[in-house]
Amino acid sequence: MNYENAYKLLEEKGQLHLLKYYDTLSEAEQAALLNQISEIDFSLIDMIGHNSSGSDSDIAPVAALQMDSIAEKYDIYKNAGLEAIKAGDLALVLLAGGQGTRLGFSGPKGTFNVGVTKDMFIFQLLIEHTLDIVKMADTWIHFFIMTNEKNHDDTTSFFKEHDYFGYNPEYVHFFKQEMVPSVDFNGKIYLEEKGKVAMSPNGNGGWFSSLCKAGHLDKLTKYGIKYINVFSVDNVLQRIADPVFLGAVLTEGFLSGGKVVKKAYPDEKVGVLCTNHGKPYIVEYYELTDAMRDERDANGDYAYNYGVTLNYIFPVDRLMKIMNESMPLHIVKKAIPYVGEDGEIVKPSEPNGYKFETLALDMIAYMGTCLPFEVDREKEFAPIKNATGNDSIDSARELLKKNGYTL
Ligand code: UTP
Repeated sequence: MNYENAYKLLEEKGQLHLLKYYDTLSEAEQAALLNQISEIDFSLIDMIGHNSSGSDSDIAPVAALQMDSIAEKYDIYKNAGLEAIKAGDLALVLLAGGQGTRLGFSGPKGTFNVGVTKDMFIFQLLIEHTLDIVKMADTWIHFFIMTNEKNHDDTTSFFKEHDYFGYNPEYVHFFKQEMVPSVDFNGKIYLEEKGKVAMSPNGNGGWFSSLCKAGHLDKLTKYGIKYINVFSVDNVLQRIADPVFLGAVLTEGFLSGGKVVKKAYPDEKVGVLCTNHGKPYIVEYYELTDAMRDERDANGDYAYNYGVTLNYIFPVDRLMKIMNESMPLHIVKKAIPYVGEDGEIVKPSEPNGYKFETLALDMIAYMGTCLPFEVDREKEFAPIKNATGNDSIDSARELLKKNGYTL
């Protein structure tokens, strides 16, 4: 795209400010900026104010498979899951393409060190959890890692520097997710540098299509992988490739599953696995009416009592079918660094605009059935979202200590 075409397009879209510093840029920077402009999907910006919401929803609770029932069939589940893992049916996808703005750590979140007297990086913990299963099943498990354009090089070099924390590098595969522009509250696209449009990762919902675009679909087919356990980077206690979870999904005849934890209190701000028009659905805390919040099941327990933890098992054949479906778009308020009026870089601490994201949790609607599988939140739920307070470095450290880790 040349300057004239870019000017015309941006004028038409009300985004001419993106060329404000064009004349001050080097030739290479000018070319890079024009190239970025040519790739912008302006239709996203038209979606502001049209957030998809469940106005015609028909939500019903789904009973979670609770810990006491899991304990009764523990060996059956574990053996079924281990057998599938030994047969090479399971691969892992670590979602590490987020920006972790709430944590405010400058590197990729997985490189954060939760150790106090010794190194204990988030990536290291996740790999060590997986190595437990590798040993148990006596087989390597393909471990895919989603990054984004901005954190990819730091992530891959971190793994190399640390010798993949003992994992077999032949089984570690990286891929990048796509980026989309970030805008202010009036829909004006931000510049993050004078010659650079502010781009941010497009949410964690596009992980499967990004994996395929990166050429990894061949691997899934070649190695006969039937299930993918997809999980977030920030829960340092979660069990990954958990044979009991996989075995429960398989034995109980579900097509997919999600690890859930009992809510700490009925108003806790977590999504709950349920159904909507008979299809698996995650009802967000802000969609939960008072009546739903107070609803009880046949045992007298809260009907919407189990929050999702971003640890799912999905079948590959279904993922392939839905690859080209358009997922609901979430328009999320975030703090976005930008070039201010005087040309200086501003790093706001409060949200100053929107990012556009699709979410992995919306995938479950396409999965036919989804088993809510309860795990003990004291043992398996220590997300690091914030620097302090709830779901923070401090709370995760406390839980790690409670679980026998020496920090
Ligand atoms: P979060 O919703 O916590 O988002 O991601 P975030 O970007 O990491 O953090 P904040 O909101 O800016 O503080 C949940 C999981 O999804 C991944 C994250 O890396 C984390 O594992 N994720 C999120 C992606 O892989 N890509 C994205 O675009 C967004």
